[in-house]
Amino acid sequence: MEQDSDRISLKLKTRFIKPKIVRFPIIDSTNSYLMNAHSYKPGTVVLADYQTAGRGRFGRSWVSPPEEALLFSILLTDLKQEIPLYIYTFLAAVGVYDGLKPLISGKFKLSLKWPNDILLNNKKVCGILVQSKTSGSVFSRLVIGIGLNINQPEEFFKGELQHAASLYSKTGKRFDRILVLTNILRNIDQQLTILREKGEKIIFNKWKNACDSIGRPVVVDDGERIHKGIFEDISENGGLVLNTGAKKVIFHAADVTILKRIQ
Ligand code: BTN
Repeated sequence: MEQDSDRISLKLKTRFIKPKIVRFPIIDSTNSYLMNAHSYKPGTVVLADYQTAGRGRFGRSWVSPPEEALLFSILLTDLKQEIPLYIYTFLAAVGVYDGLKPLISGKFKLSLKWPNDILLNNKKVCGILVQSKTSGSVFSRLVIGIGLNINQPEEFFKGELQHAASLYSKTGKRFDRILVLTNILRNIDQQLTILREKGEKIIFNKWKNACDSIGRPVVVDDGERIHKGIFEDISENGGLVLNTGAKKVIFHAADVTILKRIQ
């Protein structure tokens, strides 16, 4: 399905992420490609203009018109499993958040939403999908996939996409995809450096600080039941701690709706 790739050299001085990225005009999914392609070095970034089988959480599809979103994945290899996968989701989210902050006017609100979203004015603009392969005690391959809606018009976000938006649909400003990508990769690289040198707690705390739904009423759909309560905290293994009034429940995989008030 994929067409030939080319290379783009980004203006980056990074420690982990390779500045020369691989770009495909069309590919099935940048995540699937990096999960299966064997010759790339760690730190390789694969960018697609268009994905024919983009994937999100729970096997959902991730759809975007050609050249209007940033669809990319980062390959990391040989990572100790002592650092759990959710930390890489949090790390990528913090990198996207920090990378976007200077590009978005202060009158728009960026925030993080458990477990893998970045919101702009409470609408999802970005989702993250981390996948891995394990060999013995290491993640032999870990792929961080990021889909960031950049220039799709407001009309694109109808029906089941009504909770999503793009940077353009919210701010009215068009963005250069490569400039946004460069800023995000620089920030993800900084987070990888922090993780390596100082450990995961800093990433965990940065994520929590940028998540403005902690303390607010939420509805949690775990696929079997709907639970209502206060989003009290993040557990030490990355779960959402829900206080229902009667008890505290920890969720590790679920969809969350943030409420303005208890309903
Ligand atoms: C989610 O919110 O469910 C996660 C969406 C992740 C989408 C990105 S787009 C680039 C990469 N390739 C994929 O197939 N998925 C991720």
